[in-house]
Amino acid sequence: MAYTVPKLKSFTPAALDKAAEKLLAVLKEEAQGVTSEADRKAFRDRWIGRKNGVLTEINDLWLKAAPKDAKREVGQRVNELRAAVMATVENARTGVTIAPAPAVAKVGAVLGSVSVSLDITLPGIRRPLGSEHPVIKTMHEIVSVFRNLGYSVEEGPVIETDYYNFEALNFPPNHPARDTQDTLFIARQESKPQRDRLLLRTHTSPVQIRTMEKMKPPVRIVIPGKVHRNDPPDASHSPMFHQVEGLAVDANITFCDLKGTLDHAMKALFGSSVKTSFRPSFFPFTEPSAEMMVSCFICGGSGKRGPEPCRPCKQTGWIEILGCGMVDPNVYGFVDYDPKKVSGFAFGMGADRIAILKYGVDDIQLFFIGDVRFLEQFG
Ligand code: PHE
Repeated sequence: MAYTVPKLKSFTPAALDKAAEKLLAVLKEEAQGVTSEADRKAFRDRWIGRKNGVLTEINDLWLKAAPKDAKREVGQRVNELRAAVMATVENARTGVTIAPAPAVAKVGAVLGSVSVSLDITLPGIRRPLGSEHPVIKTMHEIVSVFRNLGYSVEEGPVIETDYYNFEALNFPPNHPARDTQDTLFIARQESKPQRDRLLLRTHTSPVQIRTMEKMKPPVRIVIPGKVHRNDPPDASHSPMFHQVEGLAVDANITFCDLKGTLDHAMKALFGSSVKTSFRPSFFPFTEPSAEMMVSCFICGGSGKRGPEPCRPCKQTGWIEILGCGMVDPNVYGFVDYDPKKVSGFAFGMGADRIAILKYGVDDIQLFFIGDVRFLEQFG
């Protein structure tokens, strides 16, 4: 005879125990009888169905019917029974039953004494691995070219003081060269002396100073990092971008060393057939200063792609890639180096720009808006 929830005559703990025991025994027995999807449905409806399910019945016949002073006790037991019923029904629903085969492991009952079979030959769930961001990847490539030349890596803070971003790099207070840097300043610093005021670094050059303060020559370092400028975003500008800086200081370093090193680095990055060219420029912390161009590695320097004009080099055959120069002797004065004994060169390049050229991306914003459909292509 199928079990039906009995009305309780007595609500003593002993009577409750007995009723609960019976109910759990029936639950177990019926769960073991579940072998098909139809069984599972019927089993679920019978036990947790809203209308006439066993849970509803024990609620009505046991809990609601209990005298006031037994309510607490009965409530607690009904809750326990509900948990056991739910777990058993849930387990019967997820339990996968497959005809026993050697590779199918019988996993002993975990919940509500229902046994679950698990097919360990089924494929697992593969979690997709992320990949390196194209700009970070480019920075790593640039850094590794210089590591192979014996350079070590230094980093510094993105929130910098006026002193490191400007003053020690030979930008005197109020010097017009500061205007070229479109600086984002941290607000409400007027009470501090100017050199202590905080800003978002506009270039990675402050790390040159920080490194020379803590290290005696010879120094050979590369500095990858994030920088900010107050540029409105468009296809080729972003208020946040990335640079890789380099600094070499030692006895007898000359402009030839600068040219040879950078020419080698560009060939390592863009292929051995690229050519480099330098033209005069100005930076307060280098003298002389130069801009370096590489022959366009997209059109091979011809300015044309078939009959079409080459866009990345604006048909000139050359791409401007970095700023560089010999470290200005004034800079050594800020870090206690003797300009009579040492000389050196520095350079700085935009990593995002190089990534754009390398991957043929037409909008720098794509790097930073976090659209996986774009980022996935670099996996
Ligand atoms: N810091 C310069 C810039 O951001 C680049 C540079 C670095 C130039 C090192 C010369 C030497 O524009």
